[in-house]
Amino acid sequence: MKQETPANIFAAAERHRWHASEPGIWSVHGADLDSIPAQSILVTLWDQPRWLEAYHLYDQRGSELFERICDLPEYYLTRTENAILEKHAGDIIANAPVRCIAELGAGYSKKTVHLLTEQLRQRGSSIFAPIDVSAAGLRASRDAVRAAFPAITFHGLHARYEDGFSAIDKNLPTLFVFLGSTIGNFNHTDFPRFFRALSAAMGPKDYLLLGADRIKSVKVLEDAYNDSRGVTAEFILNVFGNINHLLGSNFDRGKMRYHSWFNPEWRQIEMYAVANEPQEVRFPTVPTAFQWQKDEKILVEISRKFDPVRLQEQLRFFDLRAVEHYTDANQWFSVMLLKKVAKADGS
Ligand SMILES: C[S@@+](CC[C@H](N)C(=O)[O-])C[C@H]1O[C@@H](n2cnc3c(N)ncnc32)[C@H](O)[C@@H]1O
Repeated sequence: MKQETPANIFAAAERHRWHASEPGIWSVHGADLDSIPAQSILVTLWDQPRWLEAYHLYDQRGSELFERICDLPEYYLTRTENAILEKHAGDIIANAPVRCIAELGAGYSKKTVHLLTEQLRQRGSSIFAPIDVSAAGLRASRDAVRAAFPAITFHGLHARYEDGFSAIDKNLPTLFVFLGSTIGNFNHTDFPRFFRALSAAMGPKDYLLLGADRIKSVKVLEDAYNDSRGVTAEFILNVFGNINHLLGSNFDRGKMRYHSWFNPEWRQIEMYAVANEPQEVRFPTVPTAFQWQKDEKILVEISRKFDPVRLQEQLRFFDLRAVEHYTDANQWFSVMLLKKVAKADGS
């Protein structure tokens, strides 16, 4: 099998920045995603209310726990989106004539196999470029894709979304794929920043396939994030083990509990860690500390829920025009295919 070089996916100005950190997986020279500046965690923990950025959730154990969440009976998102993709993959690929599929926050890329199957059937050998901060996810994705699709060249990008998508050659017709309603994890500041950057990185022949979870009964929503087996609680509280590992802090899992609810005004599930007793959380390398008061909450993750019509209207402000909208019989989940449109000034 012919091995593609990075020249086949990276923009010319980006090629020198990337190196193969392991077979099929590229990293930016000198970038160590595990060496998180203490400042980026401390600044949100010192905020009011205290909160954390979602990507700290995905250490090796976090990635494994997320995969278990996807199989939970209450977590309808994965199986609903998977069924939509399975049913419509042929149509999606026919509508998006590309050579490369680049998946943002790909995780283990399990649902993407429907798109890869159709891409191979309709276009022959192609490129699959998942972008993720989780090395565990990229490895699982690489091993599965190489075994099932030898004619698809795998280029995993171990990077944050923006570093990854802005490195891809704008002249390579690409379908950017963003599944799992991961956009729901973005707060109101991250959301426009992300789409502004993604749209700017997209070339004139590029498409975006976006999975978005919809507003529905509060019971269905709340059960999905508070499962009877406690896997979601374990996933959310695991972030403190990762922060202890990164910063040498002393968060104590035994002194906190998980709490989640649907905030109807902000239309989002909010997932918190709550202190069971007062405790001093110390960061010896900085050094600094804060008093975590009894019953005080730290917001670890949000999952916003969308009205697909409104979401499509918002995305038009980023020059992304809806081509197709796929949903399920219950209208619980939306998968939208969008095309980058040139502005009137040609940019
Ligand atoms: C909610 S999971 C979704 C996984 C998969 N796409 C799915 O639909 O099941 C989010 C994924 O995005 C990755 N991720 C989170 N923040 C990221 C960031 N800033 N840059 C790149 N990847 C990120 C995580 O490692 C994880 O694999």
